[in-house]
Amino acid sequence: MALASESRHGMWSSRWLFVLAAAGSAVGIGNIWKFPYMAGENGGGAFVLIYLVCVALVGIPIMMSEVLLGREGRSSPITTMRKLTESAKRHPLWVFIGWMGVLAGFLILSYYAVVAGWAMNYVWLTAAGTFDNATAEVASTTFDAFLASPWQLILWQTLFMIITIWIIGRGVTQGLETAIRLFMPMLFLLLVTLLVYAVNSGGFEQGVAFMFDVDYSAFAKPEIWIIAMGQAFFTLSLGMGAMMAYGAYVPENVNIGSTVLTIAILDTSVAVGAGLAIFPIVFANGLDAAQGPGLMFVTVPLAFGQLPLGAVFGTLFFVLVSFAALTSAISISEPALAYLVEEYNAKRKRVAISLGVICWLLGLGSVFSFNLWADVHIVGELTFFDFVDYVSQNIMLPLGGMLIAIFAVWLLPKTVLAKQLGIESRAVSVLWKFVGGILAPLCVLAVFVYTLWPVIAELVARVRELLG
Ligand code: PFF
Repeated sequence: MALASESRHGMWSSRWLFVLAAAGSAVGIGNIWKFPYMAGENGGGAFVLIYLVCVALVGIPIMMSEVLLGREGRSSPITTMRKLTESAKRHPLWVFIGWMGVLAGFLILSYYAVVAGWAMNYVWLTAAGTFDNATAEVASTTFDAFLASPWQLILWQTLFMIITIWIIGRGVTQGLETAIRLFMPMLFLLLVTLLVYAVNSGGFEQGVAFMFDVDYSAFAKPEIWIIAMGQAFFTLSLGMGAMMAYGAYVPENVNIGSTVLTIAILDTSVAVGAGLAIFPIVFANGLDAAQGPGLMFVTVPLAFGQLPLGAVFGTLFFVLVSFAALTSAISISEPALAYLVEEYNAKRKRVAISLGVICWLLGLGSVFSFNLWADVHIVGELTFFDFVDYVSQNIMLPLGGMLIAIFAVWLLPKTVLAKQLGIESRAVSVLWKFVGGILAPLCVLAVFVYTLWPVIAELVARVRELLG
């Protein structure tokens, strides 16, 4: 079957728009909220270094695989996998990659919108001067009181979902590209402004030391590798077809390898930049870097509140987070959205609304995890929010990513692979097969087995018990 040279959903206007769109997807709450707090909790420099290794050895080859499959299929991940399994005469079960991606997308967007809603609320709180010269107690009570109110959380989650639905409903060129052209330059500008501010805050040296001084003993701790690997997948938007969906809109003449490298560098720079903007102000105020998820919503506002013009820069910071979250949210919904449009010939706007409503409903579970259902544990100590986050980030994304790389490297016809990646020399082809087809999947597998080991051990024990 001859595959299309353009997608029916539209195309990125240029290579740079794809870079911006993919960077918009990659740069999000994962960079500004998760990365700094994970680095803070896991010892700083060592975590940063391990994370960089994961991005280079696993993230980049898997992103290349996603984009090349997308560009070859020119459709939503489900349809793309269907077309490619047919044309390469592979087992139809490989389409499972697309389905799992859609499911992961629903799960991720459901809780992503909740946290993005917090950031939007913090734009107002900071602008209103809530944290001006506030004590640590005021900052943490403000956050706790906010989390304790389901109505407030729902209000902001709903607002975020409405904006997302509105953008995605307008289509690739009018909706996605317009939002990306507007938000991405602002995002970089805001980050640079905040960095300049952090450099002058008095805690910059300490911040830099925290992020880059490496304690090599951490390399022997498997937990850090697991967390860093999950974070690499999440932050690069890998494993659920978002990059495959965006890859479908990439013009033929774009070089996938160098483009993916640019995207990974941009994403990593923003994560490191966010750390460099946050930790100096944290240290300048003598606060705790290892404070966990509250870092962005308690420590950061508190820190800004102590500094001159803190309300202005604090507000800018949360505007930055909200923009970053929006450009990611639109990419999370693209695989499912494009699939439903293709399968039912439906109108994008209608599909966008239906998807939004389902995600919104699912997100209520995450909203209640912080108040009404705070004591409800799905597995072990995990609340609904923790569970959805864990299953999607640590299980579905790595599994999806591993299968995508295996399919792209070993099961696509060689000619397709060579054409998509523009591989001409044998040495490059061998390198690509080794890194993309062996090293990356093996790393994921190792981390995967290790993560699931306690669960597998418990299941085995239970089965043994049942069998007497
Ligand atoms: N990469 C985004 C972040 O770091 O916030 C989150 C994300 C977007 C995950 C798109 C998955 C995805 F498909």
